[in-house]
Amino acid sequence: MERSLRLLLLLIGTLAIIHIAQAQSQQGFISLDCGLPPNEPSPYKEPRTGLQFISDATFIQTGKLGRIQANREAEFLKPSTTLRYFPEGTRNCYNLNVEKGRNHLIRARFVYGNYDGLDIAPTFDLYLGPNPWATVDLQKQVNGSRPEILHIPTSNKLQICLVKTGETTPLISVLEVRPMGKDSYLTKSGSLKFYYREYFSKSAPSLRYPDDVYDRQWTSFFEKEWTQISTTSDVGNSNDYQPPKVALTTAAIPTNATAPLTNVWGSVDVGEQYYLYAHFAEIQELLANETREFNMVLNGKLFYGPVVPPKLLITTVLSVNPDTCEEGLCNLQLIRTNRSTLPPLLNAYEVYKVIQFPQSETDENDVAAVKNIQTTYGLSRINWQSDPCVPLQFMWDGLNCSITDISTPPRITTLNLSSSGLTGTIAAAFQNLTTLEKLDLSNNNLTGEVPEFLGNMKSLLVINLSGNDLNGTIPQSLQRKGLELSYQGNPRLILPGSPTKPQKTKVLVPIVASVASAAILIAVLVLFLIFRKKKTSAVQVVHPPSSRPAMDYTYATPTKKRKFTYPEVMNMTNNFERVVGEGGFGVVCHGTVNGLEQVAVKLLSQSSTQGYKEFKAEVDLLLRVHHTNLVSLVGYCDEGEHLALIYEYVPNGDLRQHLSGKGGKTIVINWGTRLRIAAEAAQGLEYLHIGCTPPMVHRDVKTTNILLDEHYKAKLADFGLSRSFPVGGDSHVSTVVAGTPGYLDPEYYHTSRLGEKSDVYSFGIVLLEMISNQPVIDRNRAKSHITQWVESQLNGGDIAKIMDPKLNGDYDSLSAWRALELAMSCANPTSAKRPTMSHVVIELKECLVSENSRRNMSRGMDSLSSPEVSMIFDSEMTPRAR
Ligand SMILES: *[C@@H]1O[C@H](CO)[C@@H](O)[C@H](O)[C@H]1NC(C)=O
Ligand SMILES: *[C@@H]1O[C@H](CO)[C@@H](O)[C@H](O)[C@H]1NC(C)=O
Ligand SMILES: *[C@@H]1O[C@H](CO)[C@@H](O)[C@H](O)[C@H]1NC(C)=O
Ligand SMILES: *[C@@H]1O[C@H](CO)[C@@H](O)[C@H](O)[C@H]1NC(C)=O
Ligand SMILES: *[C@@H]1O[C@H](CO)[C@@H](O)[C@H](O)[C@H]1NC(C)=O
Ligand SMILES: *[C@@H]1O[C@H](CO)[C@@H](O)[C@H](O)[C@H]1NC(C)=O
Ligand SMILES: *[C@@H]1O[C@H](CO)[C@@H](O)[C@H](O)[C@H]1NC(C)=O
Ligand SMILES: *[C@@H]1O[C@H](CO)[C@@H](O)[C@H](O)[C@H]1NC(C)=O
Ligand SMILES: *[C@@H]1O[C@H](CO)[C@@H](O)[C@H](O)[C@H]1NC(C)=O
Ligand SMILES: *[C@@H]1O[C@H](CO)[C@@H](O)[C@H](O)[C@H]1NC(C)=O
Repeated sequence: MERSLRLLLLLIGTLAIIHIAQAQSQQGFISLDCGLPPNEPSPYKEPRTGLQFISDATFIQTGKLGRIQANREAEFLKPSTTLRYFPEGTRNCYNLNVEKGRNHLIRARFVYGNYDGLDIAPTFDLYLGPNPWATVDLQKQVNGSRPEILHIPTSNKLQICLVKTGETTPLISVLEVRPMGKDSYLTKSGSLKFYYREYFSKSAPSLRYPDDVYDRQWTSFFEKEWTQISTTSDVGNSNDYQPPKVALTTAAIPTNATAPLTNVWGSVDVGEQYYLYAHFAEIQELLANETREFNMVLNGKLFYGPVVPPKLLITTVLSVNPDTCEEGLCNLQLIRTNRSTLPPLLNAYEVYKVIQFPQSETDENDVAAVKNIQTTYGLSRINWQSDPCVPLQFMWDGLNCSITDISTPPRITTLNLSSSGLTGTIAAAFQNLTTLEKLDLSNNNLTGEVPEFLGNMKSLLVINLSGNDLNGTIPQSLQRKGLELSYQGNPRLILPGSPTKPQKTKVLVPIVASVASAAILIAVLVLFLIFRKKKTSAVQVVHPPSSRPAMDYTYATPTKKRKFTYPEVMNMTNNFERVVGEGGFGVVCHGTVNGLEQVAVKLLSQSSTQGYKEFKAEVDLLLRVHHTNLVSLVGYCDEGEHLALIYEYVPNGDLRQHLSGKGGKTIVINWGTRLRIAAEAAQGLEYLHIGCTPPMVHRDVKTTNILLDEHYKAKLADFGLSRSFPVGGDSHVSTVVAGTPGYLDPEYYHTSRLGEKSDVYSFGIVLLEMISNQPVIDRNRAKSHITQWVESQLNGGDIAKIMDPKLNGDYDSLSAWRALELAMSCANPTSAKRPTMSHVVIELKECLVSENSRRNMSRGMDSLSSPEVSMIFDSEMTPRAR
């Protein structure tokens, strides 16, 4: 009877050979190198396996990129050196396309590697769709964790989610999915969790792809009571399981030829269910009078037998039903039969535990419809990931579902997208939510007509279309009994029954408008009065110059700085008439405060800010920063949706324009002026790093952020990215936004942190640009990054090859060399080897002295050098109060 439950497989044939051909092409393999930076090649070939790894970027929308500490990279090779971590949201999910109904090997790898420098290994949960899969505890698993399952997805989508369970931040390093052979690893119920997979050989390497066409990982194992046998002949491995041929060429036999071959395993969970897969092949040359025959006995009961391994051909004996072991200890013995002349043998062996994923996923059509709605309207909500309804604690915002029992797919019953900024028409996908009872689309910007299908959705009880911009006539179908319909606040929507007359609300519009304009008028008046008053009462407290050399700063009392109202902002910019730039955060308009002071108004889109509190904190900080080489913040506006930063206006464009000759900046800035601009920008940075309290990191130093005034004085702009950073023990900040590619500190990739030395790196790149006028990154150049290009040119030892040709050789080569060396030391990949900004300032001033003395000597002969920009090192460089 036991025997009838077992199955012996002996499968050779063309079917299996087709499997090999498919698998060898890595067909269907998903190999994700999580957190691979965008500037590294993807896909790439992992050299040891030949597997094609790709970046995970298109499989997940959330998370940040990290890299394990550099000194641990030897321990964990690529793809485990980078990772994605999830400081935001409780549940973050990967979305993978798989083949419904087919068994898949799913394996994730988690390596902490002190990527964040905190030395606290995280603990979190791993989910497969709505079901818990594993708890990842990297404090216990110091060498990383690698959970693996064999699972048959119930739809073509597979969601793998990391769930925050405590204080620590979830992370993931590698994610791998492999479709398995069609009829392999089937269970009566549940999926299979990897327990162990071994082949019997002394000190042999682990095996995986390409030895294993399904990329299972096999470790070698051997006991001291055993003797190894092996063959050099080819061993046929073609059956549904196809273990690696290499794994079958060796086997273990008991050294005592009459003793059984024993394998023991166990677990603390007594009721655990196991599936076993034992792979046998006869690899010894048997004489005519020799026989090898044995029984498999599990905990004293016959498991299967007798087994007579075929010559150089695989036989797999596997569980058809799960086995449990008494007291949690399993003991499998291979015992030779009376007629066997040879001891038993075992080539390879797998054990899995049963894992149940009992919670049904939400109805497939509901999921497809709601995801379609999500993409149609570009809804990006952090918790709209993975299954919409289950588990209950992760149900998507704005949804409600009917959840009867775990084996019935949940259905969506409420969809509330009120005030979600929806634009466009009412999407057809709504009608596919066939059990929807409540639909709230109020307070959006939906346009077009109310579709007929809404009325035909039988389950619908409540529908709210209020506060949109819908037009046309409400269809008859929506006027059915039992359907509560709200549609007020759609001025162009024609009421049913009065087919020609638009809604009354329209009359309201001109009234509202005129009230609004009156309000603006009043605001302008008030503003005018305030400004008149402010003008006379503005106080500036000027501190004596500091004893620190070359620091030029003043403190202004915050009374002059102020919060502006939105109408004031509209007024000062003349209704945003003159757009002078566009940054990552929004447009920048020219404006005038009090008809005198010119300002640049940066309008921030709501989505670009981190929220009101952070915005306010940032503003308060920036209002206190004041230095002649920093663009100062004049004020701000934070009225509801309207956030704006009002800066001092710097009229002469940015350094990039001047170097490239674009934007009408055709005059070539001479070498001396370049050095002065560099020294000034460096002083601005030095002030941020050591002169202000708390110290700050600029985080986005680049030539487009160095603005020039009418006297070509440098002013560093864009503190939008700045964050104050604590001094002392932890002099690093964890970043929200990374800087600009090319300028970004390479150490950022290892640490995900930007410190003041990251600014030094970026400044080094700026300096290289000012010296060479080469693009920072040029993909058409053999050495695409500017540091690589400079290094390649340096080998020649000819500085003329590096210097900007536009300078026409008009520079002091001593100062040029010195500036170049300084730039390269700033751009050192190792932050510890970079100088401080104070050191940079001193060096640049010495370069400037050297250049100026040459210029003064040659001034007589060289009167043609462009007059506007041959400014000399003047009082600007000495401490001075404004
Ligand atoms: C981690 O790996 C090292 C080196 O391979 C090994 O010595 C150590 O025992 C491992 N630790 C654990 C907990 O597996
Ligand atoms: C070999 O195994 C048999 C059966 O288990 C046992 O009776 C015998 O004592 C063993 N011989 C040696 C030398 O261990
Ligand atoms: C099998 O035959 C060979 C000679 O052909 C002999 O040496 C050996 O002892 C025999 N083995 C057994 C178990 O009878
Ligand atoms: C094998 O030998 C044992 C004792 O040596 C005996 O009890 C058993 O019946 C034998 N089995 C067969 C199939 O001959
Ligand atoms: C969701 O529906 C259930 C049952 O209909 C109800 O008890 C629950 O309050 C609803 N939840 C929300 C957030 O509307
Ligand atoms: C939808 O959510 C808003 C708040 O976000 C709430 O005021 C409104 O009542 C909800 N609508 C329904 C139908 O529950
Ligand atoms: C609605 O569902 C049907 C069938 O499931 C599908 O063919 C159709 O594309 C879906 N429509 C939308 C708009 O998603
Ligand atoms: C609708 O769009 C207009 C401009 O296109 C915008 O001013 C308004 O705030 C939007 N309303 C809502 C509710 O999103
Ligand atoms: C529909 O939405 C509007 C705006 O959110 C709200 O004032 C109104 O009460 C809602 N109607 C119903 C029936 O919930
Ligand atoms: C409704 O407005 C859309 C543009 O938003 C327009 O194309 C359509 O013709 C309008 N329909 C009616 C009936 O006015």
